[in-house]
Amino acid sequence: MAPTLDNLDPIVSLAKRRGFVFPSAEIYGGTGAIWDYGPLGAEMKRNIKDLWWRRFIHAEPSIVALDSAIITRREVLQASGHESGFTDPLVECKDCHNRFRHDHLLEGQYGDIQKNKGGQLLCPNCGGVLTEPRQFNLMFKTFVGPVDDESALAYLRPETAQGIFTNFKNVADTQRLKLPFGIAQIGKAFRNEVTPGNFVFRTREFEQCEIEWFCEPENILAKKAPASKEHQRSASEWYDYFIQESLAWFVSLGVKKDNLRLREHDKNELAHYAKGATDIEYLYPFGWSELQGVALRGSFDLQQHQDHSKKDLTYFDEALNERYLPEVVEPSVGVDRAFLTFLIDAYEEIHEDEPNGRKKGEKVLRLHKDIAPVKVAILPLIKKDQLPEIAGDIYRVLLKRWLVQYDESGSVGRRYRRQDEIGTPYCVTVDFDSIEDQSVTVRDRDTLKQERIKINDLEEYFSSKFSR
Ligand code: GAP
Repeated sequence: MAPTLDNLDPIVSLAKRRGFVFPSAEIYGGTGAIWDYGPLGAEMKRNIKDLWWRRFIHAEPSIVALDSAIITRREVLQASGHESGFTDPLVECKDCHNRFRHDHLLEGQYGDIQKNKGGQLLCPNCGGVLTEPRQFNLMFKTFVGPVDDESALAYLRPETAQGIFTNFKNVADTQRLKLPFGIAQIGKAFRNEVTPGNFVFRTREFEQCEIEWFCEPENILAKKAPASKEHQRSASEWYDYFIQESLAWFVSLGVKKDNLRLREHDKNELAHYAKGATDIEYLYPFGWSELQGVALRGSFDLQQHQDHSKKDLTYFDEALNERYLPEVVEPSVGVDRAFLTFLIDAYEEIHEDEPNGRKKGEKVLRLHKDIAPVKVAILPLIKKDQLPEIAGDIYRVLLKRWLVQYDESGSVGRRYRRQDEIGTPYCVTVDFDSIEDQSVTVRDRDTLKQERIKINDLEEYFSSKFSR
């Protein structure tokens, strides 16, 4: 069982050292809370998105995909309430100019609250006096076209959801969808967070996987004759469904159940659009925090866009011969946060020499096979006597199906350790017997079992190990 990490340093260090994540524009000193994904990070992130897409779009009969624009008209975010309400209360130190979220300060997230004799809040960093809180909008502004004035103002979207709401009619009509149905997308979102941090946990540029699930309101369901069970679910039952399915998805990909929990929001923490919300929380080294949110958005967004755009966004229910705005349930997860969670949950550092040969200090990333960036490493025992040629042939065959690495430098033990550290589930070793028996040794990262497999059977062998 992996020891629990008490800080993120080993993860940040491994991510940088092995090419998962780099500070963005590092040669210029980095960009605050913006990160670039290196070769292994890009592969792993893509695997996470593919798995989510397969589970929540392709394996759900009524969810369709969308890829909407990032640059968003100001009117959209005025209607959605983001321009006026997507703010955090900010205080700034008059001496060191560090900024803090006022609510986080009061919750004790920066340590004990310090005040001077006059009752003014003091900076947790330098003890200077903090300003009064002011509301700080989190959206990044930009201008569309050559003129930088108010009329050309647009925003980088703060959530992918609004592109779904503004396309609700287009998608429903062109795809001839009947309620309940979902529209899903994966894409970038941007927030000028006041206090980002904890590596890729809270960043200013991140990716979201979101579903807006449109369903019949209670009063409509009550009018309908019992049809199939599926179509009788109310928004709150769909809400439970998506909470449970999202939780199960993380567990199916190896996240330990004990490190996950559900937390329902109090009324006073709800976002401006939500009637209810539950977070799937993970036990990060810095404490339990939100990994994914599931919200009951009611018909708030469609109503707002209908009112502001003056376009009819109602759904026509043929069975009832009636028009109405559907209610919405929204599961939303950050890809970067999921990425961090999978890394932390999979990370293990060996604390003492083990009988299986693993040595103190070695690191193993026990990533789920479908999430691991590199699936198989091909290792010729030595760099001569036909072994590199045989290994090279195997490499080229397997590369057509999976991301595989060829490595011939250093001792085999060292090469195993390099692969363990990046979570490669299997290593294939080509040795002298391979010349005679046309077989190789396959080593399993987790069990450390070694199996002799015919070279010609390798592709079939690995097909049975990976979901694709
Ligand atoms: N459309 C709903 C929405 O955006 P949210 O709770 O603000 O709700 C949903 O965000 C998910 O997006 C979060 O659970 C988290 O996984 C991810 N997320 C939000 N802000 C983030 C940030 N600054 N950095 C990384 N991920 C973030």
